Amino acid sequence: MQNFLSVKDYSKEQLLDIIKLAVDFKQNPAKYSQALAGKSIATIYEKPSLRTRVSFDVGIAKMGGHAVYLDQQNGQLGKRESVKDFALNLSCWVDAIVARVFDHNTLVEMAEHASVPVVNSLCNLYHPCQAMADYQTLYEVRGGSLEGASIAYIGDGNNVAHSLMLAGAILGVDVRVITPLGYSADANIIQLAQHLAAQNGGKISISHDVDLANGVEAIYNDTWISMGDSKSLEDIQKIFAPYQTNAELMAKTGAKYFMHCQPVYRGIEATDDVVDGEGSLLIQQAENRMHAQNAVLMTLLSK
Ligand code: CP
Ligand code: NVA
Repeated sequence: MQNFLSVKDYSKEQLLDIIKLAVDFKQNPAKYSQALAGKSIATIYEKPSLRTRVSFDVGIAKMGGHAVYLDQQNGQLGKRESVKDFALNLSCWVDAIVARVFDHNTLVEMAEHASVPVVNSLCNLYHPCQAMADYQTLYEVRGGSLEGASIAYIGDGNNVAHSLMLAGAILGVDVRVITPLGYSADANIIQLAQHLAAQNGGKISISHDVDLANGVEAIYNDTWISMGDSKSLEDIQKIFAPYQTNAELMAKTGAKYFMHCQPVYRGIEATDDVVDGEGSLLIQQAENRMHAQNAVLMTLLSK
């Protein structure tokens, strides 16, 4: 039984198949209207959400399935009852579990005890559904190919950076990760991404200097403060100011596209003109969350 906890467990062929299925779902939704008929999926949230919450609910309904929403009122998993008991009970009723959690280990424990697939809808380390939607978007705007694609992630070395790096490495993309000093991505994940890139024709470059983004196709941002972080915006802005994406950076690098997982803090990590600019892919990325996740669920549940 397969889970979707991180893209690192999937091959280039498997990730490309998910992207192609997502594109087909987007173009021919009627073909998949019964893909999850009779199936129920629990969606659990320890943290807030707009895109993930709505895209899973609506996406599951479009495939004839039923989503059961468990909100933050349940608190952190493992508090009221153990993660093991949570997983054992949920497995009696549902066909898959989608969970947004604080700690990646919660998902690992859930997957260990659940008898149904577990999907990571964001944790401290990864955001794999986001990365699938992001590469689907890049694939679409590049006319159905990721051959020779390049992307520069600029900002905090966080969950989104990790999944973008790992998925890009596997898909053979040139991924450049630019973070302020002290906000680097996890060293073990960088090492794994570099290893996967070498195997799959990708490239992972790391720097504290935005010049690494020169000549890149797409610049990617995430918020400078993630859910659960205790840093103050004032302190972070002092450190991150040189990493803002604005018209000057877009012009200097020559980037055609601007990407962001959202929520975007306008005027902080990116200026309005870039967020609303011609090359902005934000809304396409958000729409593709649903298509990419549907493809993931169909892949897991058709086995
Ligand atoms: N990008 C994303 O995961 O958005 P939400 O936090 O709103 O789900
Ligand atoms: N890095 C952000 C992503 C939000 C979608 C967070 O974890 O809050």
